[in-house]
Amino acid sequence: MDGRATHPGPLRSGGASSPSSSDPFTAAWVSLRREIESCRRCPLHRTRRHVVVYRGGPRPRVLFIGEAPGEAEDRSGLPFVGRSGRRLDQAITEVGLRDGEFGILNVVKCRPPGNRFLSEAARKCRPFLERQLVLLEPKVIVTLGAHALAALDPTAPTVTVAAGRERRWGTTPLFPLLHPAAALHAPKYRVRWETDLRALSEFLSGPPGGG
Ligand code: URA
Repeated sequence: MDGRATHPGPLRSGGASSPSSSDPFTAAWVSLRREIESCRRCPLHRTRRHVVVYRGGPRPRVLFIGEAPGEAEDRSGLPFVGRSGRRLDQAITEVGLRDGEFGILNVVKCRPPGNRFLSEAARKCRPFLERQLVLLEPKVIVTLGAHALAALDPTAPTVTVAAGRERRWGTTPLFPLLHPAAALHAPKYRVRWETDLRALSEFLSGPPGGG
C-alpha cells in the first residue's frame, strides 16, 4: 500500500497483502499520503529531503508512534530505519508481531534540524496524525518516547512512570514505551526497555484489551 521502494516485502506499493487500488481505504490513504507529502504548513518543509509518512501493513493490529524523523528517515522517507529503527524492529520481532501486523509512523512528519522535537510542527501535523489513526484503525497503539505519549495522552505522567502499562486513547488501548534510542544509550533504560517489552508481549498475547 504505502512503503517506498527501499522497504522490503509485501508492504511495498501494490504488494501482495495490499488492498486493490479501487479499495476505498486505499484511495483515502493515497490521497492522505499525497496531502502529507506536499505539506508546507511549517518551516520544516524547507529543510526536509523526504516527508516521512508510514511503513507497515494496511490496518495494522499494532501501531507504533514515534516522535519525528531523524537523518536516516529523512534520507529514505521511511520511519525508524536508523539505529533506533533497528532496535525497534528487533523489539517488534521479540513481541511476536509479523509483517502486516504492525505499522510505524511519527507525530511529526518532517525532520527537525538538530533532531529537536518541535511542538509547533507537532501542532501542524496533528490533523494528519488523527486522519492516519482513523484510517489505519489499529487495535493497539504503542507510543515511543515522551513526546509521542504526550501527543496521544496529554494527561499521562512522565514516560518513565507511564511506560509498560496500559492506558487508553479513546477506546483504543495505548501502551507507552520509552523511546528505543533511550534503550540504546543508557544502561538503566536498556533494562527498563526489556522489562516493558515483556509487559507489552504479555499484553498482546493476553485476553481482550490486547487487540
Ligand atoms: N526517532 C523517531 O522518533 N522516529 C523516527 O522515525 C526515527 C527516530
